[in-house]
Amino acid sequence: MEPVRIGILGMGTVGQGTVRVLERNAEEILRRVGRELRVVHAAVRNPARLAGLGLDARISSDPWAVVRDPEVEVVVEVMGGQEPTLSLLMAAIAAGKHVVTANKALLAEHGNEIFAAAQAQGVMVAFEAAVAGAIPIIKAIREGLAGNRIQWLAGIINGTSNYILSQMFHAGWDFEQALAEAQRLGYAEADPGLDVDGGDAAHKITLMASIAFGIPVDFAHCHVEGIRALEQTDVVYAAELGYRIKLLGIARRRADGIELRVHPTLIPESHLLANVEGPFNAILVESDAAGQSLYYGRGAGGDPTASAVVADLVDVARTMTADPSNRVPHLAFQPDAMSALPL
Ligand code: NDP
Ligand code: HSE
Repeated sequence: MEPVRIGILGMGTVGQGTVRVLERNAEEILRRVGRELRVVHAAVRNPARLAGLGLDARISSDPWAVVRDPEVEVVVEVMGGQEPTLSLLMAAIAAGKHVVTANKALLAEHGNEIFAAAQAQGVMVAFEAAVAGAIPIIKAIREGLAGNRIQWLAGIINGTSNYILSQMFHAGWDFEQALAEAQRLGYAEADPGLDVDGGDAAHKITLMASIAFGIPVDFAHCHVEGIRALEQTDVVYAAELGYRIKLLGIARRRADGIELRVHPTLIPESHLLANVEGPFNAILVESDAAGQSLYYGRGAGGDPTASAVVADLVDVARTMTADPSNRVPHLAFQPDAMSALPL
C-alpha cells in the first residue's frame, strides 16, 4: 500500500523525537497500520536541528511550504505558539489534511474553532500529545471511560513544575536552578512562565474537562495559580507537617456547572499523587462505574511526547484506511453539546 505522507511543522524537542520514534519503530508501526508512516516534508528555522537525524525529506524554513505541499496528507504541528500556527492549521484543515498537534495552548484558546472546522471538513484533529506527554489520557477519558459519568479529575499535569518541586525537596535545589535544568532537559515550554505560573496545566485541565464533561473548551474560566512564589523552605516545612506540595489541575462537576482550577496543593505524603516525582505526571479520575482510576507516566520530554504523537499518527492512518462511513469523529466535544451542561 502507499505510505501515509506526513509533513512536520517544527523540529525541536518533540519534532526530533517524533522522527526518531517513527524511524526506530518503523517495522512495528507498519505491522500495526499496514502502511508506512513516511515524513516527506519538514519545516525548521534552524537546519542544524536536523543534524544526526538522517531525515530523508524535503526541508523548508517556511512552514507554509509544508501545509501547501499537495503530497502532505497529515500535518504534525510541533512548533508551538498561537500565530502563525492557528492560520497554518486552519489552512491545512481547509485543504482536507488531517492534523496531529501537541499544542495545548493553541487548543485551549482556539480549540472550538479548530474542531468545528475539522468536523465540517471531515478531517481528524488528534491531540493526545497535548496532555500529559506519554500517558494516553485523552484516549482513556474518551474511549476507556466512555460508559461512565465522570465526577472529577485531578492530577499533576505539568512535568516542569513537578520536576522543580521534586528537586527542591530531594536535592535541596532552589527554584531557579531546578527551572534551568528542566529547560536543559527539554521539559519546559519555550516560555517557561507557562509552566511555573500554571498556564500550561490550565490549558491541559481545560482540554481534559472538555472531553470528560462534553463541554466546549473554556480556558477563560479556569482559576490559575503557579509555583513561582514557592521557596525551598515551603517544601521543607510542608514535609515536616507530613505533606508534599504538588501543582494540581482539578476539574469537578458541580450543581451549578464545571469547576476548573490549577494551584499548588498540600497532599498527605501517604497519598499516591504525593509520590509522583520529576517529570512524571499522574491523573486520578473519579467516575460512577469504574470508581477511581489512576493514569501515570512521563509527562514531558522528546521521546515520551513523541510516543503520543506517533500513537495519534497510527490512529489517523488507520482511520484514513478504514471505510469513511466507519470513521469515528475525533473531536473534543460534539457541537450540539455546546450550550447546556448535562448536570
Ligand atoms: P521547541 O522549541 O524545542 O521546538 C519548536 C520547533 O518549532 C523548533 O524547531 C523551531 O525552530 C520551530 N519553529 C517555531 N516557530 C517556527 C516558525 N514560525 N517557522 C518554522 N519553524 C518554527 O519546542 P518543543 O518541541 O518542546 O514543543 C513543541 C510543541 O509541543 C509546543 O506546542 C509544546 O507546548 C508542545 N509540547 C512539548 C512537550 C515537551 O516536553 N517539550 C510535551 C508536550 C507538548 P528553531 O529550531 O529554528 O527554533
Ligand atoms: N512544558 C510541559 C510540561 C511539556 O512541563 O509538562 C509537556 O506538556
